Amino acid sequence: MKTVQDYIRTIPDFPIEGIMFRDVTTLFADPRGFRMAIDQLIHAFAGREIDKVVGLEARGFILGGAIAHQLSVGFVPIRKAGKLPGKTLSQDYTLEYGTATMEVHDDAIEAGERVLVIDDLLATGGTAEAGIKLLEQLGAQIVGCGFVIDLPELGGAKLLDQMGVEVHSLCA
Ligand code: PRP
Ligand code: ADE
Repeated sequence: MKTVQDYIRTIPDFPIEGIMFRDVTTLFADPRGFRMAIDQLIHAFAGREIDKVVGLEARGFILGGAIAHQLSVGFVPIRKAGKLPGKTLSQDYTLEYGTATMEVHDDAIEAGERVLVIDDLLATGGTAEAGIKLLEQLGAQIVGCGFVIDLPELGGAKLLDQMGVEVHSLCA
């Protein structure tokens, strides 16, 4: 039987030379692959109380939306700067290939809500760290972070562990 990893392809030198880009569009496009990824991420946090799922732009929206629907909870997007229409909090961060700013609506989460953070891939952890900092400013309780892929050599899992955040990834 195919595993989640079998549905993911690697494209060299995207978006810049030297990056081996893990492309999950092939996972999302396959009905068995996509369902397997969603089911396994939900299973990783089974039994935990979750009030909202937070998705990190952009592929975290696809995964996080499906997970929120399955759990019958609300979905909150954390977006790149300038995309959210309401009042936002902002957090700068660095990536494997650049720097950026993440934003969240300042009324997206109520203090004390238990949130599950979802993205497709954990590399340096900069994106997830920025998201967690924004959520903590809103008073959220971070249940954990779920990723399809972890690139452990880039240190993201270690960083989130040092922050006391529970991390589950489906493959490396
Ligand atoms: C990718 C990926 C994660 C992030 C992980 O997104 O989807 O969000 O990088 O890297 P990090 O752990 O080093 O922060 P990207 O920034 O390419 O943005 P996109 O999803 O909007 O294309
Ligand atoms: N984000 C950061 N590094 C990445 C990689 N190697 N593949 C896909 N997304 C990424």
